[in-house]
Amino acid sequence: MSVDFTGYFLAAAARRPPPPQSAPTPAPKKRRRQAAAPAAAPAASAAPPPLPAGKKRQKPRPLAAPPPAPPPAPPPAAAPRRKRSVQQRLEAQLAGGRFRFINEWLYTRPSREAARLFAAQPELYHAYHDGFRSQSARWPVNPVDRIAGWLGGRPSVWVVGDMGCGDAQLARIVRQEVHSFDLVACDERVVACDIAHVPLPSASLDAVVFSLSLMGSNYVEFLLEARRLLRPKGVLKVAEVASRFEDIDEWIQQLDAMGFRLTERDESNSHFVLLEFVRTSSNAVLNQIVPLKPCIYKRR
Ligand SMILES: C[S@@+](CC[C@H](N)C(=O)[O-])C[C@H]1O[C@@H](n2cnc3c(N)ncnc32)[C@H](O)[C@@H]1O
Repeated sequence: MSVDFTGYFLAAAARRPPPPQSAPTPAPKKRRRQAAAPAAAPAASAAPPPLPAGKKRQKPRPLAAPPPAPPPAPPPAAAPRRKRSVQQRLEAQLAGGRFRFINEWLYTRPSREAARLFAAQPELYHAYHDGFRSQSARWPVNPVDRIAGWLGGRPSVWVVGDMGCGDAQLARIVRQEVHSFDLVACDERVVACDIAHVPLPSASLDAVVFSLSLMGSNYVEFLLEARRLLRPKGVLKVAEVASRFEDIDEWIQQLDAMGFRLTERDESNSHFVLLEFVRTSSNAVLNQIVPLKPCIYKRR
């Protein structure tokens, strides 16, 4: 069943706040050079030299006072803290609500519905991504950076698939060739598609990455597609929000049956887990898998 959000979202999208304007930077103040210090006066205790006959000793004239030191430069004026207007606060709340709504929708529907919705109304995709970007900017660690660090130690000749790549950060950071896929191409590096059906030949990838992108109630299809795309012994890297797993051991067992043997499990981060699997020879048919809970963002 498809849901028409046109009325709700188009009205909301029309009210998106304009990008914040950066305050003009004041030109640096030129500092005046301090006047050179006057030459040291002769010591008061030194005896005056003898005068030639008939000459009167003149009263010593007071030394000219040194020019006053320039006043210290005033400290740079603190940027005035702008209070957000009621309208700006309402717009921010509306944008937050819109992000959470689309986010939850993506986690609870089959991906073909999301693909249809975003194809018809790409502005909804951008609204979702604006929200995701502002959420992830607050995280102390971003899984994409962890995965990029890991790829830094892998062969540069590897070919990698980044499934649900967002704005294709991985392709920008790493030296390997990266194929980036998402529902909407928001960058020229991104190929728009549903990651349940990726336009690449079988066994063409050395690594497949899902960074927080196992969204969609049919996410098992994404994993089966990853299995098709990986060469034998290719690597599957998954970063997921820890709270999405009801029972992570059971989940790992199911992936094992599907053809992915766990090789690394990193739960050191309090928010997300990083799992690494190697593609085995198993091609077990598995149409069902334990569902992952949707990742719901709290209202702030
Ligand atoms: C939470 S964001 C993560 C983005 C990026 N991987 C990161 O870690 O910054 C999830 C991304 O997966 C994408 N996505 C979800 N389901 C998808 C599907 N079926 N096909 C393609 N992309 C999908 C979303 O559009 C979104 O860009």
